[in-house]
Parts: sequence; structure tokens; C-alpha cells
Amino acid sequence: MAEPDAVRTFEDGLAQIRATFEQALRAAEDEPQLRLINARYVGPQGELTALLKLMPKLPGNRRRELGQAANALKQGIQQAFDETLDRIHRSARDAELTGPHLDLTLPGRWQMPGRLHPITRIRNDVLDIFVSMGFDVADGPEVELYENCFDKLGFPPDHPATDEHDTFFVDGDRPSDAPTVLLRTQTSTIQIREMMKRKPPLAIVSPGAVYRRDDDATHSPMFFQLEGFLVDQDVSFAELKGVLTLFLRRLFDEHVALRFRASYFPFVEPGGEVDMSCVFCRAWEQDRARTAACRVCKGTGWMEILGCGMIHPVVFENVGYDPEKYTGFAFGMGLDRIAMLKYGIPNIKLLYENDVRFLSQF
Ligand code: DAH
Repeated sequence: MAEPDAVRTFEDGLAQIRATFEQALRAAEDEPQLRLINARYVGPQGELTALLKLMPKLPGNRRRELGQAANALKQGIQQAFDETLDRIHRSARDAELTGPHLDLTLPGRWQMPGRLHPITRIRNDVLDIFVSMGFDVADGPEVELYENCFDKLGFPPDHPATDEHDTFFVDGDRPSDAPTVLLRTQTSTIQIREMMKRKPPLAIVSPGAVYRRDDDATHSPMFFQLEGFLVDQDVSFAELKGVLTLFLRRLFDEHVALRFRASYFPFVEPGGEVDMSCVFCRAWEQDRARTAACRVCKGTGWMEILGCGMIHPVVFENVGYDPEKYTGFAFGMGLDRIAMLKYGIPNIKLLYENDVRFLSQF
């Protein structure tokens, strides 16, 4: 049934939309705003959409004419929408082209990459060499029993070396008969720990922190050592020399020579210290003037590098090995010292100050 009022509503509605759409759409400042305004007219809930739903109620004789008017209006809206969208896109593009431009030649923001500390690098290099020779890598606690640090390694109770090491003791509320606990002064403790755990043959290296009451240009209260030892039947000093020679030549220079000097450590017999030809004046090249002027080896051509020896039978007894059956060798070195020699670092403190200006040189 046609309703005469429907014609009025329809015509008024069209007139109302016609009067406003053009200005409303063209005022849009950006695309989302434009689409919102457009939807107010022709969206599912839009004003024109609502009018078109009235079409069936229009009298037949007016329907065609009013329908055409509605369609023309719809096209007008579409055109205003298209033109405005185009205008918005163009002005965005213009702003991009004329505004401050993106400088593709600017360097990117640099992130400082992390890197390994020189001691970590040396430790890795040293371990690589020993692992390639067949050594296992072991680890052990820094807080240690006095027994493992001294007694079992053959230090007599009042041995001056235990003073010399000037140990940090760990106190605390412990019963008076509790064993004495300390910060290990040497990685030789690993000899005791690993030998008590395992049976020969064995070849082990163990890097780690050690602690002593020392503090000057060449000593830090905490520093790093690397212990190595090998136990089997019929091990001789020749094997010790072979392993150490190969190691130092691989780490420093294939030309270095080694010199063994007798020395005393309670857990080895015979015990010795190893000197290596100075890698700063390249002593093996025999440029006498250069070596004479070398401040690192003080003109001697030699640098002290590590301690070593044949494992003392007392140590074997203390860990339950038969000293008649087994022999072995051990050696210990300061990783800090090796890093200082390898990288030409004059003061051990530099290794522990964490100054990036220093650390970024490696
Ligand atoms: N532990 C000794 C020190 O701290 C270094 C050392 C010397 C280790 C001789 C050894 C060795 O295994 O045989 O001074």
C-alpha cells in the first residue's frame, strides 16, 4: 500500500542529503574521516540507504522518478567521495615529497656488539690446544676444603708455602670440629678431586679462578689458573716436555724454545719451572741488541711461564692410587699472565677494571 506521506518523507530526505553531502564529504581531512562521513549517507545505516528502503511504499506513479533522483544523488555522493579521496592521497604524497626527506645515506644506529674478555679468549684458545691433544676438561669449586688445597697435595701442616699463599679463609658459624674451608689458592685442587673420582689413565686440564692475598701490578687477589695433569703407567718427564713444548709453540710461536729449571712444589718430584723464549724480542731470532733492550724479558731472552713436575708418590697415596704402578706429570700456569704475554698487557689490573676502551682493543 502506497502511503502519501512516504513521498514527502522521501523528497524531504533527498533534499536534506543533497544540501549537505557535498560540503560534508569535501571537508574530510583524511581517509578514515572521509569513509566515516561517506558511511553516514550510503553505509548500511546511512541516511540515503534508509530512504531507499522506503521505495516500496512510494506510489507507483512516482516511484520511477523518485528512484532516479535517489540514484543521481547516490552518484553525486560517490563522485564527491572519489574526488575527495583522490585529493587526500595527492596531498599526502605532496607532503611526503616536499616535507623533510628521509636521508638514506645516514648511517644506521650502531649497536656495540659484545665480545669475549681477553682472559676468556685465552682460556678458550688454551683449552682448544689441550683438547686437541686428548685432554678432558674438568671444573671444581672455588670454595674448597683446606685438605684438598694443601694436605692432600703434600703440604706439611706448617709448610711455609701455606703462608706464602696467604689464603682467604671462609669463616662462619660452623662447629669447632668442622673442616677448614678456604678460597682455593691454586687449581691443583683439581688433581685431588679428579683422581679421587676416576682411575688412570687420565689426562685432564682445568681452568678456573683462584684467590690469594696479593695486590700489585702483577698480582690480583683473584686471578685465573689452568691446571693440567696426566696419569698412566710408564709416564716420563719426556712426555711432559713434549706436551708443554707443543702447547707453547701452538699458543705463541712455532719457534719458541723451552728451558726447564729445577724448582720446588710439594706435590711434584722432580719439580720445575719452565721458561720460554721471549716472544716480545723474538729471542730465537738472536738479534742481541733487540733482546738486550727488551723490557719484558729484561734482556735475558727468557720468560717464566709455568710450573710443572712429576706427580709426587705421596699425592698418589692420598688419592688411593698405587705409586708403584702409576706415574704422571702435572703443570700449572696463570691464565692472566699468559693473556698479558700474548696480548702485551702491562698491568694485570687492566684485566679486571672492565674499561671498554681497554677491552674493545681485543
Ligand atoms: N699450583 C702451583 C701454584 O699455584 C702451580 C703448579 C706448579 C702447578 C707445579 C702444578 C705443578 O701442577 O706441577 O703456584
